[in-house]
Amino acid sequence: MIIAANWKMNLRPCEAQNFFKTWSELNPGQSLKNRSAVFFLPPYYWPLAQSLGLKNLAWGTQNMFSEDFGAFTGENSPVVAKEMGAQWALVGHSERRQLFGETGSFINKKVLKALNLGFKVLLCVGETLEQRQSGLVQDVLDQQLQEGLTHVVPNLHTFIAYEPVWAIGTGLTARQEDITKAHRMIRHRLLSLGFSPETPILYGGSVKPENSSEILSLEDVSGLLVGGASLKPDPFFKILNS
Ligand code: 13P
Repeated sequence: MIIAANWKMNLRPCEAQNFFKTWSELNPGQSLKNRSAVFFLPPYYWPLAQSLGLKNLAWGTQNMFSEDFGAFTGENSPVVAKEMGAQWALVGHSERRQLFGETGSFINKKVLKALNLGFKVLLCVGETLEQRQSGLVQDVLDQQLQEGLTHVVPNLHTFIAYEPVWAIGTGLTARQEDITKAHRMIRHRLLSLGFSPETPILYGGSVKPENSSEILSLEDVSGLLVGGASLKPDPFFKILNS
């Protein structure tokens, strides 16, 4: 099971420091039974992540460009992230799609670049409320997977996160049957694209300690992608141990 934190654009430096200090106190042995923790961090926290030397934790970029280096003002180099110790790349988050206009083909370039550099890729897919109400869940998931995974040779480094846009940051967790149905649709499409039936599919959207174990017990849920509840060590640690 993978329990991933997406800090988004949150936490001051002292808060980030305190987070990891408390984290080590919560878990002095740093052993996590059957769970892997991954932190998706803004670039200014990469040196912190690099310096911590925390065991049984991995970290990744929330965003990275599709080229190694160049005249791309404001972008993050995947090569630098890699050299600083990032093992994961989050790609296609709905906030990148909606607020920054990232298209399926751009997301695909990032997926290909990240895999090529040896990252594990967590590709996010999910429908808006309007799309759900119009009965378009399957079409949206199919299209996002198809576009995001174009020319991607099936591999064991690709992970999917189902994040219904309407459940992100709203406190509205998707109903169990909606999660199960969506994960089935994703599984079906992944199989048709030649991916292993073991490809992990995570759920994200208003996950908290109160609902995490229930969601983790659902069919074909291989982990969680957590936003708001990952900003404090205590709730995130509870989710990790749920
Ligand atoms: P919340 O857990 O705050 O709903 O955010 C989910 C998310 O977008 C994680 O990537």
